[in-house]
Amino acid sequence: MFSIRPYQSPDWPFLWPILQSVFATGDTYAFSPTSTEAEIHNTWVTLPQATFVATTAAGAVIGTYVLKPNQPGLGSHVCNCGYVVAESARGCGVATGLCEHSQAQARALGYRSMQFNLVVSTNVAAVRLWQKLGFAIVGTLPGAFKHSRMGYVDAYIMHKSLFAS
Ligand SMILES: CC(C)(COP(=O)(O)OP(=O)(O)OC[C@H]1O[C@@H](n2cnc3c(N)ncnc32)[C@H](O)[C@@H]1OP(=O)(O)O)[C@@H](O)C(=O)NCCC(=O)NCCS
Repeated sequence: MFSIRPYQSPDWPFLWPILQSVFATGDTYAFSPTSTEAEIHNTWVTLPQATFVATTAAGAVIGTYVLKPNQPGLGSHVCNCGYVVAESARGCGVATGLCEHSQAQARALGYRSMQFNLVVSTNVAAVRLWQKLGFAIVGTLPGAFKHSRMGYVDAYIMHKSLFAS
């Protein structure tokens, strides 16, 4: 069992090691594997419109997502989100819950659709999960991601209308 709530600053000491370990592997997000704590805080807390965390019944942070406009001005009705689940909590539906929560939040904020700009093609867990949740691959960016072990791999743009479900 887990619950989802807005990020609060006391979460940071528990959240950033989860993010750092994911960025450090260099196989899912474009953020530098050597990102500093301050850079990660800027990326995940300062810049997004909203940051949420998933917590266990005991209060441990096990996952997170961010939500922000994908573009300014005339593209700002489309939102963009990013999701991370602690390795120890994967495969239990946390990302599913986070993504469903983010769609409800996005609708409440007036967004019309959600777009993921750089889903690494080799990240099969993510690609399968987003497809299962109704996102379509609408484009393939050849060699757009420099994977830490596999080199240049394709990335997908994935999209879902928030009026579709
Ligand atoms: C991708 C990620 C968010 C998934 O989190 P999660 O909480 O484990 O996902 P859930 O338990 O909600 O989803 C399970 C579904 O994901 C997919 N999935 C999860 N692990 C998988 C794996 N190893 N292989 C294939 N599919 C997998 C399946 O569709 C699965 O559904 P199923 O059990 O019905 O087959 C998590 O692995 C993560 O944080 N990865 C690092 C960061 C990242 O890649 N973020 C997304 C960037 S686009």
